[in-house]
Amino acid sequence: EVPDGTFYRFPLVPVRGVPLMQPIAEYWDKIETFQARPDDLLIATYPKAGTTWMQEIVDCIMNDGDVERSRRAPTHVRSPFLEIASPPPVPSGIDQLEVTPSPRLVKTHLPYELVPNSFWQQKCKTIYVARNAKDNAVSYYFFDLMNKTQPHPGTWEEYLPKYIRGDVPWGSWFDHVLGWWNAREKHNILYVFYEDMKEDPKREIRKVMRFLGKALPEDVVEKVYQHTSFNAMKENPMANYSSIPSNVIDQSVSPFMRKGEVSDWINHFSEAQNKMFDAEYQKRMAGSTLKFRCKI
Ligand code: A3P
Repeated sequence: EVPDGTFYRFPLVPVRGVPLMQPIAEYWDKIETFQARPDDLLIATYPKAGTTWMQEIVDCIMNDGDVERSRRAPTHVRSPFLEIASPPPVPSGIDQLEVTPSPRLVKTHLPYELVPNSFWQQKCKTIYVARNAKDNAVSYYFFDLMNKTQPHPGTWEEYLPKYIRGDVPWGSWFDHVLGWWNAREKHNILYVFYEDMKEDPKREIRKVMRFLGKALPEDVVEKVYQHTSFNAMKENPMANYSSIPSNVIDQSVSPFMRKGEVSDWINHFSEAQNKMFDAEYQKRMAGSTLKFRCKI
């Protein structure tokens, strides 16, 4: 039960320049000093890049394709959200992690620079999922409409400039994808693209299996693939966030499993917005080897 008044649209407070919801900023000391274990697996993303999808894939692989076991609890219990914090008595992500048996599957939206150092000291494996900026923006807009703990996005017209400036929870998409891209060779980081997952899910599932050191037969790949399709996850109460009360996320405004497509941005960006966005994109991404596809 979530007490009334515990959740509201929290203001953003900068933590080392990155805007985070106020309860997270207030809890920062605990997050920064979090002690990772060597067998923790970190799943890092910018919000709305395909986090939940990757969490489901990894949990299913870790259980050798036992899909019934993957229905044991909702996503946020099976794979706690490291930095999430709310006013008491709601348990924080760290409280949840403390009662989670190893090997733990840890979710984070933190930019690389803000990840607790213990993950790198412990040489934890990390999977980063990145999604093209335009689809990511549209997905985030609808999420901010329905997530009652994040600032209201306003109209799409009002939202897009804020997204480009990084004036949204967890900051700038550009800083996030580039920060993790530049870090990928320093640590044990697998950098995966949402568009690749859509294009050939089994190929990406096999890639994740290899990264986890799991040699599983093709029928397990098939099971993981079926269990983690958009439609299967949309229907699965343990994967579609229906366990979260509607005063926190209101799925009557927009479902968590909204569309799950590449190129939905075409239905939302005006020609002028697209031009403005492309110009900014060229500037921000210039000189990087990181390339995205906005169509597949
Ligand atoms: P849309 O809003 O474009 O539909 P996150 O888990 O990082 O919050 O990302 C949510 C986005 O991933 C949503 O995008 C959601 O529909 C999409 N998604 C979730 N599960 C998916 C799946 N199995 N296949 C494709 N997309 C999925």
